[in-house]
Amino acid sequence: MIINGITEGFTLKFRVILTLGIFILLFFASPPTHSQTADDEKNFQQCKACHTIGGGKLVGPDLKGVNDKREESWLIKFVQNSQALVQSGDKTAIEVFEANFKIPMPSHNLTDDQVRGILAYIRNDGKISGAEASVTESPTTAPSAEALATAEEGVKLLAEKKSDERRNMRSTFLIMIVLLLISITDLVFIKMVKAKWIHYVIILVSVAVVVELTFVEAVALGRQQYYQPDQPIAFSHKIHSGQNKIDCQYCHYTASESMHAGIPPVTLCMNCHAQVKSGKKTGTVEIAKIYAAIENNKPVEWVKVHNLPDHVYFNHAQHVNVGKIDCQKCHGEVQKMDQIIQVEDLSMGWCIQCHRTQTVQFANNKFYDQYTKLHKKLEDGEITSVTVKDIGGDECQKCHY
Ligand code: HEC
Ligand code: HEC
Ligand code: HEC
Ligand code: HEC
Ligand code: HEC
Ligand code: HEC
Repeated sequence: MIINGITEGFTLKFRVILTLGIFILLFFASPPTHSQTADDEKNFQQCKACHTIGGGKLVGPDLKGVNDKREESWLIKFVQNSQALVQSGDKTAIEVFEANFKIPMPSHNLTDDQVRGILAYIRNDGKISGAEASVTESPTTAPSAEALATAEEGVKLLAEKKSDERRNMRSTFLIMIVLLLISITDLVFIKMVKAKWIHYVIILVSVAVVVELTFVEAVALGRQQYYQPDQPIAFSHKIHSGQNKIDCQYCHYTASESMHAGIPPVTLCMNCHAQVKSGKKTGTVEIAKIYAAIENNKPVEWVKVHNLPDHVYFNHAQHVNVGKIDCQKCHGEVQKMDQIIQVEDLSMGWCIQCHRTQTVQFANNKFYDQYTKLHKKLEDGEITSVTVKDIGGDECQKCHY
């Protein structure tokens, strides 16, 4: 209660600071001009879910060298609307379509020039001339089935251990309550045991244990490490991200720009599932639920797995985009999970622990230009790196409304 009072008292002031902060963030995060090449890189983002440049086949073929294989005019038409080309009877288009198990590539609302830009970007092996591209290459080799299986077992073991712990805790709690009641009853009513000190010792110990357990439980209340709810559709990250290597941000496309990573709408599933109508594991049963959702115009009610209390402010863009932290660092090896499980406890200690040790990429990052003192210290060799804590990552108001 006292705790709530304190955090609520801060609320107004922090909202103001927060709003200002967001303006500053927006200001620094958006570069003033876009060069043609940066746009090409950005446009290619929408292709990355299905294509690599020299990284092997994903949903669609590897695009390395595609410029040498095909005419530019053909490529432009194909990228804009591949199915129109296939249906017009174009021989090459039909060949490519059939060689890729007849998974159609969705059409793209891009101008001829935009496609030319993308093609130039592909010819350049996914680099924009001059600057280093920020596109991270997807891994080229699929994780072995063995590694996937072990990881899954590991996660299961962890979950079992955790639930054992909780069961033990609950039994201890109950035993102590029963002991407490028995000794009070005997002390007051039955008076079977004559030596009163025995009652006092038992009462003292059981009260201490009950209070301790209640405290531990209260702090952990709302924390759900190893929470793994069943989902309305048996969607598997292992199949999509692990085996088909679809980029996380193809589906969680707001993660680098906004507070929430977000769950994709079913219309996005249809980019592929308009065509992919059955899976190896569940046949048509689970995929049919996508069509039902589209037909009934009803969003799928996914169960949220990760939950922070309302008084905590957490922002994905800040971590993914500015901090350059991999999703896996906080969510575990999602690409190996058939069913999502929360691997971290999301406690305050967990956040702070990382902020104390994690260094930020200070050099050449516009966002940090404001920290002139730290830049000077770095230049003078007084310090060799800057942690999140150094830029205020352990100040209460940064994380609490
Ligand atoms: C949802 C998955 C998906 C997305 C997104 C996607 N593609 Fe494709 N792409 C495919 C598939 C599947 C094929 C195989 C042939 C087909 O569909 O007819 C393909 C084929 C191609 C081909 C022909 C390759 C060849 O060997 O001739 C090119 C070129 C291409 N894609 C470029 C792009 C570009 C550029 C983008 C982004 C603007 C893009 N694709 C986005 C799935 C995708
Ligand atoms: C620094 C740790 C961290 C990183 C990095 C991170 N997340 Fe999260 N993520 C969280 C926390 C904490 C929550 C719970 C947020 C809440 O309840 O408000 C969360 C929630 C989510 C959710 C649930 C929906 C939502 O937006 O609240 C999704 C989906 C998600 N993350 C995906 C991703 C993806 C994809 C990436 C990488 C692009 C990523 N996360 C990177 C910590 C992280
Ligand atoms: C970029 C393409 C792509 C997108 C987007 C996509 N999927 Fe899939 N999905 C696939 C492929 C490829 C398979 C593999 C089928 C197989 O070989 O088992 C698949 C399989 C599945 C399966 C069946 C798994 C099995 O083996 O039984 C389900 C269920 C599924 N997807 C649900 C979804 C949902 C829900 C969404 C949207 C949130 C989605 N998919 C988005 C490509 C995609
Ligand atoms: C094909 C689309 C798709 C791709 C690709 C994808 N996800 Fe997801 N993700 C979903 C859907 C749909 C859900 C909700 C159902 C569930 O929890 O399994 C989800 C849920 C999550 C959650 C749990 C959110 C919560 O409720 O707290 C996390 C974390 C997450 N994804 C991270 C990732 C990461 C990391 C990657 C890349 C390795 C990734 N996702 C790739 C579609 C996708
Ligand atoms: C794996 C490491 C890691 C974890 C875990 C992590 N963070 Fe961060 N956090 C970072 C990095 C790196 C930055 C620096 C990015 C930046 O400058 O904004 C950052 C910055 C922040 C900032 C902005 C700080 C500032 O001075 O501007 C807030 C707020 C924040 N994190 C909240 C959280 C919360 C809340 C959690 C726990 C739920 C959390 N973080 C967990 C790495 C992490
Ligand atoms: C990096 C982010 C971060 C910083 C900095 C931070 N907190 Fe927290 N705090 C959290 C998170 C996340 C939780 C909720 C997690 C949980 O369930 O324990 C939390 C929970 C709390 C709670 C509620 C305790 C509970 O068990 O629910 C209090 C009180 C609190 N913080 C006070 C503070 C104070 C005071 C400071 C400054 C000294 C501070 N916090 C700094 C992230 C942070």
